[in-house]
Amino acid sequence: MGFFDKLVVWSIPFVPKPIVGFFSKKYIAGSKLEDAVRKVQELNKQGMMATLDLLGEESQSKEKAEEAVAEYFKMLEIIDEYKLDSNISIKPTQMGLFIDKEYCFQNVEKIVREAKKYNNFVRIDMEDHTATSDTIEFYLRLKEKYGKHVGTVIQAYLRRTSADINGLLEHKANLRLCKGIYVEPRAIAYKDMSIINENYKFNLKKLLSNDCYVGIATHDEKLVWYALSLIEEQQLKHEKYEFQMLLGVDEELRKIIIDGGHRLRVYVPYGKDWYPYSVRRLKENPKMAGYVFRNIFGLR
Ligand code: FDA
Repeated sequence: MGFFDKLVVWSIPFVPKPIVGFFSKKYIAGSKLEDAVRKVQELNKQGMMATLDLLGEESQSKEKAEEAVAEYFKMLEIIDEYKLDSNISIKPTQMGLFIDKEYCFQNVEKIVREAKKYNNFVRIDMEDHTATSDTIEFYLRLKEKYGKHVGTVIQAYLRRTSADINGLLEHKANLRLCKGIYVEPRAIAYKDMSIINENYKFNLKKLLSNDCYVGIATHDEKLVWYALSLIEEQQLKHEKYEFQMLLGVDEELRKIIIDGGHRLRVYVPYGKDWYPYSVRRLKENPKMAGYVFRNIFGLR
């Protein structure tokens, strides 16, 4: 990242919220479930699957966590009613992980039980390293009871990831593999992007060779190419994996993957708590953040 990009990324927290809101519109379906439903219908028409995410993390009260659980129940009902091709993604901290671990587990279990009722699926997103062990533990406990209706996420930037995956192989885990988005200390996470990419490839190969279902979540075309080469080499059937991308990111690559006959799921976030998610997306994309910066300072 160049000096100007670094400066832009550093300045995002000081940017007025309405400006961040304007530029992050493409990454978010809207503030209400109806907005998200319309977006999923659009994606489904274009041959893509979706996963719905209610924006918001770290619920500070049980009331907030339970509001989120209720919204996910509504989501599952609407997905069924409108026959949408969509599952859901949830965050443990939104379900109360930092209030009380077992309380959070019960909330997550309620959602997975409800999803099973509709023959749907819950992906437990992976947050920062303070939640990693609990998230994996929740997944394994729930998988035992609800089988194919639950999956989780593994981040290639974590030093522990290879060991985690070794432990998950025997469970034929259903995992989304991503690079990882949180700012982590060097002792915990690789900082060098070329190591993160190699770790992604190393672990993707392990997962696909061991009959795990993988959500290949990346917009990095080199990794997409690597995944395609493994799929061909291992002659994997399409139902053994899916590609995953975030709403608003590289729609051209999305189309290339779909046109190649592969399945692809788009992560569709919505809700009132859009700010932290938008800041993370803008930090990933200094070009977009640069527009924000110029707008504020009246630069052309
Ligand atoms: P990389 O960051 O190298 O980006 C590759 C290219 O993609 C860039 O060069 C750029 O062209 C484009 N790109 C990436 N981000 C962009 C943006 N915001 N705007 C425009 N272009 C952009 N992380 C996590 O820690 N826990 C999780 O649960 C999830 N869940 C998740 C679900 C799904 C479906 C996806 C696709 C990603 C996640 N992530 C995540 C985020 C993930 O860890 C990672 O930060 C981003 O996907 C960016 O990494 P890439 O692999 O795309 O590579």
